[in-house]
Amino acid sequence: MSDGGTFLTLGIETSCDETAVAVLRDEDKLLANLVYSQADLHAQYGGVVPEVASRDHARKLPYLVKEALSKARIAVTDLSLIAATVGPGLMGPLLVGMSHGKGLAYGLGIPFIGVNHLEGHLFAHRLSAPDAPPPFMALVVSGGHTSLVDVVDYGRYQPVGSTVDDAAGEALDKIGKMIGIGYPAGAEIDRLATEGDPTAIRFPRPMADSPGFDFSFSGLKTAVLYHLRKHPRERPADIAASVLASVVGILVKKSIEAARRYHRDRLVVVGGVAANTHLRESLVASGKGRGIEVLFPPLALCTDNAAMIAAVGAFRHCQLGETHPLSLSANPGLGFNGGSSGSGGKAR
Ligand code: KG4
Ligand code: ZN
Repeated sequence: MSDGGTFLTLGIETSCDETAVAVLRDEDKLLANLVYSQADLHAQYGGVVPEVASRDHARKLPYLVKEALSKARIAVTDLSLIAATVGPGLMGPLLVGMSHGKGLAYGLGIPFIGVNHLEGHLFAHRLSAPDAPPPFMALVVSGGHTSLVDVVDYGRYQPVGSTVDDAAGEALDKIGKMIGIGYPAGAEIDRLATEGDPTAIRFPRPMADSPGFDFSFSGLKTAVLYHLRKHPRERPADIAASVLASVVGILVKKSIEAARRYHRDRLVVVGGVAANTHLRESLVASGKGRGIEVLFPPLALCTDNAAMIAAVGAFRHCQLGETHPLSLSANPGLGFNGGSSGSGGKAR
């Protein structure tokens, strides 16, 4: 940790198909936050191709680092810490970001820290709402993860439930493909749904009424497939609206129940699917009736970014005194176990 002066963290995120770099001053002031999406590159394949993603991260990352430093108006030698996503995610893409980060840290003689991407999503909230600290219940919902976590404090997490199969965003992306929407489909399903009838088709809500806080979304995907076989001319807008009614219904029920069970009066929703307008409206309305405040980071911090990675790195290094050896390996299956480099959980 630097003695006096400012503490500058470079965050690197390459766990899936976004190449992202950010510069953070101390633990909360964002000086640069650049995200380059590979979505167009993968759209032709209908999903992320790991090898293509790795190569593109390697191609783009050095330029983004340079641009971020220039945007932050600092020299590379001003940096105090390098933080890069260690997992969960795709092995190749994770290795590209980690290796680049380690190389910089080694060359500059500064510490390196590997960041759990899931904890990163939580820190999007810390960055955007420093005045709404833990304890709170958190729903991390994206293309790779759907988890409920009781946040006792930053750095102290109790996993409450998670998906037993597909993540919510993953299911939306796969359903999008069935109705002819390009990858990733979440935002377009969100838009389409506003033109459709959410009661047109009653899709199943798997595990919505089962005890506990785990989720399941793969049955919904299969239900849509069978429905489309029987009704090939069904309006995509009605399918989108009915699918979202099911996904949002499940997410709202489980997260509000979890907040109540754990006696939390605040629910924080993070990750790419937290950008969904229907989920936002429904959660806020449902929370209001039960005295639960529901908060979401701004859209740019909901989807993958490196600001959240830098924020975890700075917190763990400055508050908890953590630093990782350069021998730290990428961990594609990292879960929400409270540590920043532990193991377990589902990779995307
Ligand atoms: O957090 P994120 O950028 O990447 C992962 O860590 O997975 O989330 C991406 C996911 C994709 O599945 C995408 O379809 C979904 O978030 N998504 C949305 C919306 N915007 C992005 N899903 C529903 N409604 C949206 N508005
Ligand atoms: Zn993510």
